[in-house]
Amino acid sequence: MADKTATLNLGGKDIDLPILTPTKGPDCLDIRKLYAQGDVFTFDPGFTSTAACDSTITYIDGDKGELWYRGYPIEQLAAKSSYLEVCYLLLYGELPDAAQMADFDTRVTRHTMVHEQMHKFFSGFRRDAHPMATMVGVVGAMSAFYPDSTDINDPMQREIASIRLIAKLPTIAAMAYKYSVGQPFNYPDNELDYASNFLNMCFSVPAEKYKVDPALARAMDLIFTLHADHEQNASTSTVRLAGSSGANPFACIAAGIACLWGPAHGGANQAALEMLQEIGSVDRIPEYIGKAKDKDDPFRLMGFGHRVYKNFDPRAKVMKETADEVLGILGIEKNETLKVAKELERIALEDDYFVEKKLYPNVDFYSGIILSAMGFPTSMFTPIFALSRTVGWISQWKEMIADPQGKIGRPRQLYVGADRRDYVEKSKR
Ligand code: ACO
Repeated sequence: MADKTATLNLGGKDIDLPILTPTKGPDCLDIRKLYAQGDVFTFDPGFTSTAACDSTITYIDGDKGELWYRGYPIEQLAAKSSYLEVCYLLLYGELPDAAQMADFDTRVTRHTMVHEQMHKFFSGFRRDAHPMATMVGVVGAMSAFYPDSTDINDPMQREIASIRLIAKLPTIAAMAYKYSVGQPFNYPDNELDYASNFLNMCFSVPAEKYKVDPALARAMDLIFTLHADHEQNASTSTVRLAGSSGANPFACIAAGIACLWGPAHGGANQAALEMLQEIGSVDRIPEYIGKAKDKDDPFRLMGFGHRVYKNFDPRAKVMKETADEVLGILGIEKNETLKVAKELERIALEDDYFVEKKLYPNVDFYSGIILSAMGFPTSMFTPIFALSRTVGWISQWKEMIADPQGKIGRPRQLYVGADRRDYVEKSKR
């Protein structure tokens, strides 16, 4: 509720704008009536100063480097919780008691299989298709396979769609991977926990049983948790915008996956590892730091910088520790890529360019090293991000649908094109 106002003087006319006060974070100037009262729009490409909704789900303090899900700091959830418990927290707002958790676990586990016809759907794709390309198509096609959970006005259908998406995304991501390497699909194994099941579906082959290492499953679960939500980022805003038209949840999540794919967003984990591998050795780091600082060179340090964090990304800290642990478990402590990453981080954090622009490693800087050590090819990094983020997208989508003041998202524009002009016949141009 607004208890303060700001007055904008527009051509001699005073317009009072309510100031909305959040639980945490900067106040928001409520400009909803500005166009009606002042006949002006606001101009904010990239939404650098615009809150597009109110939300109770995730809070980020970019200056302090803090991230909370429903009020709980990410470091505590990373240390004490599990991904499925975090899913419950994000979806329903509170941590579950034992009975609620057991029930949720069963509901998710019972939905892990995909419609058998979907297996055939995959064979329409080229084998060399990027797994993200396959995922955008297959997740969008879920609306064709599960039409009984596409009515967004029915709370029960919304709930079933949510559970289906959380349960089936690991199956679909693993199928996308298996298809790309020419191996048969593995069915989910409901004896296994969420992370172990995903690892098993990815790495088990009919000729050889895959034994899930519990420590690696824990690291996988942690990676899922760290990526579960991140308030109104590009893909989440895409999901909300798509959903604001009344589109069904499967179509909205497919839109989120498409947006996540870009290298400035979720695609950065693949780009970061490829960059570290290209650098190759510590002695080549200064050359790449120089390229990143050169205004005439489009090169950027991938996995560095963030729109919101102007301090350490708290997820990157946990990721760095996990990288050390996972490489230790796998007996590859002398990993050259990790050495390059740590040295690159050290040099960049002492360099005036990065210090002045407040550019720190983000979540993608170390995640690729862990995933690669586990055996995933770089093309699977973003699909793993997508399956982890699905719960965040769904939670935000559900919040938006339940909001009584919800409207279709429809930004305005500052038109700078040609003024009205008359059509010229081809012979006279
Ligand atoms: N390397 C070198 N310079 C950088 C980097 C970088 N990684 N990131 C930002 N800068 C510089 C920019 O050149 C710009 O300099 P200028 O002010 O002299 O023009 C300044 O820092 C600000 O950068 P912007 O692009 O304006 O910042 P914005 O908030 O729009 O972008 C972004 C944030 C896209 C994440 C950017 O830092 C970037 O491209 N990073 C690399 C890609 C990456 O790691 N993305 C993952 C993001 S996290 C996630 O999606 C999970």
